[in-house]
Amino acid sequence: MFNPNLSINAQSGDLAQLVSPTNKSIFIRLIPGGKYETHRGILYFDDLIGKPWGSQVESHTGQLYVLLQPGLADLLQETRRNTQIMYPKDIGFILLKMGIINGSIVVEAGTGSGALTTALALFTGEKGHVYSYDIRQEMQILAKKNLDRLGLTDLVTLKLKDIGEGFDEKNVDALFLDLPNPYDYMDKVRECLKPGGQFGCILPTTNQVSRLLFELHRENFAFVDVCEIMLRYFKPAATRLRPTDRMVAHTGYLIFARPIIYTKQPPNNHDGQEDLREEEV
Ligand SMILES: C[S@@+](CC[C@H](N)C(=O)[O-])C[C@H]1O[C@@H](n2cnc3c(N)ncnc32)[C@H](O)[C@@H]1O
Repeated sequence: MFNPNLSINAQSGDLAQLVSPTNKSIFIRLIPGGKYETHRGILYFDDLIGKPWGSQVESHTGQLYVLLQPGLADLLQETRRNTQIMYPKDIGFILLKMGIINGSIVVEAGTGSGALTTALALFTGEKGHVYSYDIRQEMQILAKKNLDRLGLTDLVTLKLKDIGEGFDEKNVDALFLDLPNPYDYMDKVRECLKPGGQFGCILPTTNQVSRLLFELHRENFAFVDVCEIMLRYFKPAATRLRPTDRMVAHTGYLIFARPIIYTKQPPNNHDGQEDLREEEV
């Protein structure tokens, strides 16, 4: 599985990233005897195994690359995709906010190209599990390839099913939806999540968020948060430090909520009109 070694040298079987002089990355698994052929020449894996991470390495024509141990964000950016995939900036916050840890049982839909699935599997680990639903078989074939590449396939059950028919799992710790109409499935989400569990969702427009808020209210979800993660990169030039010219201005709104069992009246901030936490600030 994706389990980077902590040694300072690249080892046999490791995933590695080779960065060209034009800043293009190649991701390879360092299988002894293997090679990677580019228009800049051939890189023999036996020459790379044992080299310290961060070394400059050469192809057989003398072209230089830097050998790096890839981070998860690097790998997610390289996910082979047929759909819009989720961005590391959103995924990182989702994992923390929804309390995804080693051992968590998580359901998601849709699988898409499997970018979020990859991160979820990595965090839930061998003690937990990810159940990932999609209605399109071609998406799950692609997601499986992406998971295979990182050795994560055993940690995920891919389900070819419309979530309108309901989820097969009950009492899961967390459930995330990345599909256009989550508000149509909130009764199914409620049946699948454990009471007080973690629900999360990403939506591109505020209209969709409003529709979802009405349904969350109807299904007795509380502790609702709506937010957006903005990330601005800077040109790392010490003498003229400034933001880069272009940025990803919008990916989606993130919505989080918890299903509650009310025995008496719901609190009066339940519909989000009055946020008590704002008053405390
Ligand atoms: C934007 S993609 C998900 C991308 C994914 N989160 C990723 O990071 O790669 C949305 C997916 O939802 C699937 N989908 C849409 N409606 C669905 C439904 N009712 N049940 C299951 N999957 C659905 C689509 O087939 C599509 O593959």
